[in-house]
Amino acid sequence: MKVIIKKDYEELSLEAAIFVKQKILEKPNLVLGLATGSTPLGTYQKLIEMHQKEGLDFSGITTFNLDEYVGLAASHPQSYHYYMWENLFNHINTKKENVFIPKGAVKDLKEYCHFYENQIKKRGGIDLQILGIGRDGHIGFNEPGSAFNSRTRVISLDPVTVQDNSRFFNSISEVPRKALTMGLATIMEAREILFLANGEHKAEIVARALEGSITTKVPASILQKHPCVTVILDQEAAMQITI
Ligand code: PGA
Repeated sequence: MKVIIKKDYEELSLEAAIFVKQKILEKPNLVLGLATGSTPLGTYQKLIEMHQKEGLDFSGITTFNLDEYVGLAASHPQSYHYYMWENLFNHINTKKENVFIPKGAVKDLKEYCHFYENQIKKRGGIDLQILGIGRDGHIGFNEPGSAFNSRTRVISLDPVTVQDNSRFFNSISEVPRKALTMGLATIMEAREILFLANGEHKAEIVARALEGSITTKVPASILQKHPCVTVILDQEAAMQITI
């Protein structure tokens, strides 16, 4: 695991965007796994700037998002579809047919999960997966207790996640209680991982994930077994690690 500590969120975001840019330059048809939440917003903003100012070309890449709320249509402002188009895809030149975000409003969720896994396989697997981490240690929406061999599936959200994500909704009662998520095994199959965390509120869980025992109680701890992980933290999120 390579750990990079940057002064603040701005620098973390720039470092992460440069990392992604490098991968796209090396492999213009990169299969990129994307995350939502507040953590990667700065990275996406920098990537948009790189597209607009330097002409960074996203036309050859394919993207797969980690997760989506069950029951929210793509047009819902809190859906991850909406988030991705607002915060990234509307501003770069990725082809629509190469954008994959789990659909949370389909009838047969189980069948859809198989379909999603198959699409990842058909595209040759994920080259680089961007990850944030929840305060409960989740990656994607793999909440504590998720099996290390889990694949794309429906999951019930942990109360910590519902609470944390309620800041994006009018009230906590509006936060969906279920989500679709790539599984831990799906994530671990990505050839490379870019793990991002910022802020004091992440310091404890980052230390447990990166340096604690590997346990399903902290789903992100499985990343210790991945052969190619780059971690970029700001100083606050790095406060409790010893590496
Ligand atoms: P955050 O969420 O980036 O909004 O902190 C991270 C996550 O829940 O994975």
